[in-house]
Amino acid sequence: MSGPVGSAAQVAEGREIAAIACVQNHYNLVHRADDALVDALAAAGTAYVPFFPLGGFSPIQSQGLSEVARRLDATPMQVALAWLPARAPNILLIPGTSSRAHLRENLAAASLDLPEAATRVLDGLAGA
Ligand SMILES: NC(=O)c1ccc[n+]([C@@H]2O[C@H](COP(=O)([O-])OP(=O)(O)OC[C@H]3O[C@@H](n4cnc5c(N)ncnc54)[C@H](OP(=O)(O)O)[C@@H]3O)[C@@H](O)[C@H]2O)c1
Repeated sequence: MSGPVGSAAQVAEGREIAAIACVQNHYNLVHRADDALVDALAAAGTAYVPFFPLGGFSPIQSQGLSEVARRLDATPMQVALAWLPARAPNILLIPGTSSRAHLRENLAAASLDLPEAATRVLDGLAGA
């Protein structure tokens, strides 16, 4: 199956047709409609690739995110990226950029460890 898969029911339907190695859908720090699906896929050992990991064409803007980033001496986009693989072990990241500076910044996010207190603040941003 190719293209976005929108729900757990669609994943189940797809599994009757073929083995599913990976699901791709819209998901990021502030767009969390797939929370339960991410967890179910993690339990099944299926990868999840969030598209728009930084918010897509309008990158995420959030005061809470900026404050966490300032405390960690990182950029908001680095924190938004670091949150995703910390959220679930099956999340694979493909952030898009047309800028080498952003590419370097985004690659550096791979070594950013989020302390528990920061994760708690970030986890609450979707409902803020
Ligand atoms: N396969 C699919 O199902 C699917 C679905 C949706 C979209 N897409 C494709 O994915 C692309 C965009 O989606 P995406 O997933 O790449 O979105 P994304 O990673 O959430 O966001 C990309 C945007 O963030 C900006 N950005 C990247 N790194 C940044 C940084 N460090 N600081 C500030 N801004 C930064 C980029 O601008 P700069 O270029 O200036 O860095 C770009 O505007 C599009 O080409 C779209 O066609 C594919």
